[in-house]
Amino acid sequence: MDKIRIVGGRPLEGTVRISGAKNASLPDLCAALLSADPVRLRNVPEVRDIRTMGRVLTALGAEVEFRVGGEVQVHAGRLTSVEAPYDLVKTMRASVLALGPLLAREGRARVSMPGGCAIGARPIDLHLQAFEKMGATIGVEHGYVEARAERLRGAQIHFDTVTVTGTENVLMAACLAEGETVIHNAACEPEISDLAELLQAMGARIRGAGTPTVQIEGVAALHGAEHTVIPDRIETGTFVAACALAGGEIEVRQCRPDHLRAVIDKFRETGVRIEEGPDNLRVRAPRTLRPAHVTTLPYPGFPTDMQAQYMALMSQASGSATITETIFENRFMHVGELQRMGANVRENGRVAVVTGPTTLSGAPVMATDLRASACLVLAGLAAQGETVIDRVYHLDRGYYRIDEKLRGLGADIERLS
Ligand code: EPU
Repeated sequence: MDKIRIVGGRPLEGTVRISGAKNASLPDLCAALLSADPVRLRNVPEVRDIRTMGRVLTALGAEVEFRVGGEVQVHAGRLTSVEAPYDLVKTMRASVLALGPLLAREGRARVSMPGGCAIGARPIDLHLQAFEKMGATIGVEHGYVEARAERLRGAQIHFDTVTVTGTENVLMAACLAEGETVIHNAACEPEISDLAELLQAMGARIRGAGTPTVQIEGVAALHGAEHTVIPDRIETGTFVAACALAGGEIEVRQCRPDHLRAVIDKFRETGVRIEEGPDNLRVRAPRTLRPAHVTTLPYPGFPTDMQAQYMALMSQASGSATITETIFENRFMHVGELQRMGANVRENGRVAVVTGPTTLSGAPVMATDLRASACLVLAGLAAQGETVIDRVYHLDRGYYRIDEKLRGLGADIERLS
């Protein structure tokens, strides 16, 4: 199993290019199940979760071709199965995104029920309730969700909680449903707009994607399309935090600053200098970091997927910052490891108080999930001495060659195989 070794204390300089968004590519790949024609996606990051989704689609009978340069073609001409098996879903809960498209196109789906994960219980009850409202019969047997519907009917869907993959699942299914579906309290994340753009290119009739109310007028069939995936806003934010922590000055290219409003504003509050271009950021680390409180919220609020990285940053600020996690109930798994490196963090339920600056010292640490791993990489850049991060496969699920990209910026980082 790979490890990552970092020797901290080297400022970053140079340019880094941001990859395509993992959390946009995953639903985009599933959307290809809605059409019998090929769908070609560009700017797909070659990360482990994308490969896993490729295996899910292949298991359903789609032909999936990964080409060089981040292009993926999915041809779901005829599906040979409607089952997303346990082995794949257990490694990646986003496999549940196959449910909506399968139900809409094949009238049937059998998807292993995802269990809890490292960051919380993460039920999919809201997805299932929505499909029931659209006329599906849902049962859970032997650990599998069994869903059936001759043809889904448009419906008024009111989500109690903002759910990203729930919104995506219903959005995809509604494209082939009979009549109009309106999603109320829909997630507004840029990944939703990206998916809607692809679906529209496939012939779907959608209005309001990216706002809390999305209207979808079902059509009889969707055709093939080509689409370029948006840049990864969490990877972008992670590199900004890396520069702020390690020191130095970098340019982050091929990103979408408009997708990071809350993150950029928060970083500026802490003293990080950020100049924005249309698709790039120039980032300069401040001499001293100021503490700034943060609360994670659905988009356009501060993303939960940046919370762990932000905590690493606040360990180096001069004073106390309160970090409140409102999206997931168990997303402070990085706290213990940060404390082992010397960070002063007090955790009380969903609130963590970080008081800095403390000198971080490199240590062997273990990653528990994707963003917790990123937090440890960032802490390692700021720490004195050597940090060795175990269970790097978490990092590889969602960051494309983060070690190589950081090395390109001058960090002392290597992968140990
Ligand atoms: N929820 C329910 N019932 C549901 C669905 C969600 O109670 O049926 C709750 C969840 O338990 C959670 C909250 O609603 O407390 C929000 O969860 P959401 O459904 O929005 O999360 P998700 O769609 O499963 C996506 C991203 C996550 C990201 C969250 C929040 C993908 C593939 N995953 O998850 O990304 O943290 O939205 O923004 O898009 C990551 O990339 O590291 C990651 C975990």
